[in-house]
Amino acid sequence: MVISDREFSMLVTFVKRGYGIDLRGKKSMVESRLSNYIQDCGFKDFTEYMSVIFCDNSGREIANLINRLTTNHTYFMRESEHFSHFTQVFLPQAEKSIKDHDLRIWSAGCSFGNEAYNLAMCMDEYFGPRQLGWDLKILATDISFNALRAAQRGVYGEQSLKEIPESWRAKYFVPMNHGLYKVCDRIRNNVVFKYHNLMDEMSFKKGFDLIVCRNVMIYFDDATKSALCKKFYGATEEGGYLYIGHAEIPPMDIPYKRVQTAVYRKGDSL
Ligand SMILES: C[S@@+](CC[C@H](N)C(=O)[O-])C[C@H]1O[C@@H](n2cnc3c(N)ncnc32)[C@H](O)[C@@H]1O
Repeated sequence: MVISDREFSMLVTFVKRGYGIDLRGKKSMVESRLSNYIQDCGFKDFTEYMSVIFCDNSGREIANLINRLTTNHTYFMRESEHFSHFTQVFLPQAEKSIKDHDLRIWSAGCSFGNEAYNLAMCMDEYFGPRQLGWDLKILATDISFNALRAAQRGVYGEQSLKEIPESWRAKYFVPMNHGLYKVCDRIRNNVVFKYHNLMDEMSFKKGFDLIVCRNVMIYFDDATKSALCKKFYGATEEGGYLYIGHAEIPPMDIPYKRVQTAVYRKGDSL
């Protein structure tokens, strides 16, 4: 199935404006990812499909479209340097300086939830019995309803657990049938999943001590990355951190200070 240049350009503008995703130069990717779906749904062609997209008040068809244009690929212990920094640097600083014991962490673009659960496991290891009296709930958000549903269930296959240490597998996962594993309730209860489009305004009752936004900005152009990093900065507590993906190029005007590859900080002290 072929999309006309005019329709492609309308789609590029629509997706960029609403979701920040930059589809320029990706016409064949769009055609190949959408053709089967459009046919299976019984649409005659791209023109008919796009007329539905442009007046989709339910948001369901748009959500499907965005799902098909992005990837939810993720796994436990992905970019493990972040988990080392988290455990060895971030948490000791946070424990010392957060006087009200309300530690605020946001996994932005959480996909299937592995990243957020992984952070919750690290905190459980780090704090042990000291976690009593702390509020350690992690906020995890995404625009993919499919991913959020799966994240909430917290069930994973062997493949996404392959980097998890054996002792953690025994401690934090409950084996199920068909080689699947479910994250234990104690860890699942420490993560709150919500829909949030990173292009929308952010208003949170309190700033975050850590924002983890890894392998999400790869979809965005420079201007979008720059605006998003400024919003993140506004939502970060003084001395708080931002983690981005190791392969990502931050915007030129990122307001945070660089600490090490893919680790940024607002100010000097937590
Ligand atoms: C490749 S996954 C990254 C998952 C995880 N952070 C990691 O590094 O393993 C990218 C996620 O970003 C989400 N995403 C893309 N655009 C977004 C937007 N505008 N707002 C919120 N999430 C978005 C996608 O739905 C997808 O789940």
